[in-house]
Amino acid sequence: MDDVHEEFYATALKLVTCTEKNAAQAIEQFEQHAISHFEQEDEWMRTTNFPPRDCHLDEHAAVLKSVREVKEAVAQGQAGADIVQDIGMALFQWFPGHADYLDSALAAWMTKLNMGGKPIVLRRKL
Ligand SMILES: [Fe+2]
Ligand SMILES: [Fe+2]
Repeated sequence: MDDVHEEFYATALKLVTCTEKNAAQAIEQFEQHAISHFEQEDEWMRTTNFPPRDCHLDEHAAVLKSVREVKEAVAQGQAGADIVQDIGMALFQWFPGHADYLDSALAAWMTKLNMGGKPIVLRRKL
């Protein structure tokens, strides 16, 4: 999960820094990342019967829907780099809360199932 989250930041950074030339490519790459990232977690939630999964599944679906709308608008020439940068900024604002509350709850649940105990969380003091 941590590796996938590193990839989230790398692909979202490409949205924020895109130009008119590579905006379409950046949003397509992010969509590909989001599909595999969210599908993996959705599958974990379903196969382990994670109890509070509905809100987590809904957030994934809502984000992917917005990403697809932006991708379509760019493909049809109705949106440019500024809109792609905007969704990138929105994703940067959304993700820390999602990872802290929803993804970490899923990680704790799966670790408890597999190892019988919860993981400890190490935080850097910034
Ligand atoms: Fe995640
Ligand atoms: Fe998630």
